[in-house]
Amino acid sequence: METVVSGIRPTGNLHLGNYFGAVKNFLRMQKEFNCFFFIADYHSLTTHPTPEDLHGNVKQVLAEYLAAGLDPEAATIYLQSDIPEIAELTVLMNMNAYLGELERTTSFKDKARQQPENVNAGLLTYPVMMAADILIHHAQKVPVGKDQEQNLEMTRKFAGRFNRMYNNEYFDIPQPFNYGESLVKIPGLDGSGKMGKSDNNGIYLAEDPKSIQKKVMRAVTDSGPTEPNSEKPEAIKNLFTLLDVVSTKDTYDYFNDKYNACEIRYGDLKKQLAEDIINFTAPIRERILDISSNTDYLRKVANMGKEKAHESAAKTLKEVREIIGFRSF
Ligand code: TRP
Repeated sequence: METVVSGIRPTGNLHLGNYFGAVKNFLRMQKEFNCFFFIADYHSLTTHPTPEDLHGNVKQVLAEYLAAGLDPEAATIYLQSDIPEIAELTVLMNMNAYLGELERTTSFKDKARQQPENVNAGLLTYPVMMAADILIHHAQKVPVGKDQEQNLEMTRKFAGRFNRMYNNEYFDIPQPFNYGESLVKIPGLDGSGKMGKSDNNGIYLAEDPKSIQKKVMRAVTDSGPTEPNSEKPEAIKNLFTLLDVVSTKDTYDYFNDKYNACEIRYGDLKKQLAEDIINFTAPIRERILDISSNTDYLRKVANMGKEKAHESAAKTLKEVREIIGFRSF
């Protein structure tokens, strides 16, 4: 079975866009591949979180992914910092990563622009640690969105370089992976763009019902169509996209017919949409609250993942050290 590795940034809460995007992919991949999913907490140090924030964010993101259906029996779910072999492999890979190519990475240039007061070496070598994350388990596939394509390209380059340098085919060259165009892009509530692009256009899985209701009722609309069967403007299309993922087909068709007949009342549509979103998120929210208050369970999951990930990582590191020439007398 092919191996998949993916890292999860421990920042922010999951919103509906994440749920119908990355999370849905994870749930499918964990059934089809040998998956390693980890919380990228070494990487997150580039932004200098306080210890309390770091720990709190890691815990929240783990609880949310578990609540959304990530299965610690099916996939290996672990904290990156529980596997020091990743840090060691990063040191080794650093020797063949060049300043010029690291400086030219788009994500580095973006970060350097966003946080000019904190352009640390961890930001520069981010793609090297990402390569270590992936290569330590010999992943053949890495699910990447547009923003991570270049980083994966660097992994492929570093893996190939290692193989050539030591004249063997030790590392698989990992492929970018996605399930094609099957994913619906979830729009935000501000009439334009994806959910999550700005802080205020998202609906979170852990959000309380009142707040969801308020946000949906405030979503951007217009004064309604004047011609039957007119094309929907962006903001209205977005509301229908949301209806499409959380409501029944009957509900969708009902409002769609109303729209086409120029009889749509956006207030009714939003009320229904809010109710259906709440029905959809409520059980997940409950699980999030449950899991995040269950320290024993979180510890058990993390320990289980650590054990499985460590076994795989230790084997790789032992072999890499041998290849490089760190040999015992
Ligand atoms: N860079 C990824 C992101 O920002 C997270 C990540 C770290 C990752 N290491 C990885 C993803 C290894 C895939 C594989 O989302």
